[in-house]
Amino acid sequence: MRHPLVMGNWKLNGSRHMVHELIAALRNEVSTVAGCEVAIAPPAIYLDMAKHELAGSRIALGAQDTGTNVSGAFTGETSVEMLKDVGTKYVIIGHSERRTYHKESDEFIAEKFAVIKEAGLVPVLCIGETEAENAAGKTEEVCARQLDAVLKTMGAQVFKDTVIAYEPVWAIGTGKSATPAQAQAVHKFIRDHIAKHNAEAAASVIIQYGGSVNASNAAELFTQPDIDGALVGGASLKADAFAVIVKAAA
Ligand code: G3H
Repeated sequence: MRHPLVMGNWKLNGSRHMVHELIAALRNEVSTVAGCEVAIAPPAIYLDMAKHELAGSRIALGAQDTGTNVSGAFTGETSVEMLKDVGTKYVIIGHSERRTYHKESDEFIAEKFAVIKEAGLVPVLCIGETEAENAAGKTEEVCARQLDAVLKTMGAQVFKDTVIAYEPVWAIGTGKSATPAQAQAVHKFIRDHIAKHNAEAAASVIIQYGGSVNASNAAELFTQPDIDGALVGGASLKADAFAVIVKAAA
């Protein structure tokens, strides 16, 4: 049976001081919460420090991205083996900010999915449509295309015990979250799309919602049957707001 996962994506925010302070506050706020997995994804340079600060807590560690090569002459890259070495469990891939600013293709993201699985880590595959695609009624088409890149190369069973984050691009950092009904409709589409190929994988895949989730709208989003927690950006930088979201999912 799948469980909800609330994960904080810190994006390009942080310092040694902040890692120490925020994790101390989070340990305090969410240490007694059961029924929901909690994770944080700080910038790569702070992962090792964060792992030490998290020692003995129930908060897991996530990375915001990975390279596809394991070692060698790839200046500036981070490998899945390195992420594993410092105690990372989840790896976010395909975030719209990487698709947009780094021109990452569906196929390249599928390659990342494969190397993460091979390393025994858990991919968090972000998918979602832009505002223009939404207005043109292309939400399902876009999500299907982004899922199919993984399905085509690895088959649907690869989604078993992994995570998909549905993040409509128009909702990210805008304060304009999808409504629970809007998000549920897309989450159901995603699960049904995978179920056409593999029912077991579809039932086990965690489908998070992401896009302006905050302390006020989280509980209502989590009432929906196919919304399994959230990938949280801005609100994950404040321990009290993040804790409210975690408790709403538990
Ligand atoms: O990965 C997180 C998402 O991009 C959502 O960000 O909560 O700041 O809208 P946000």
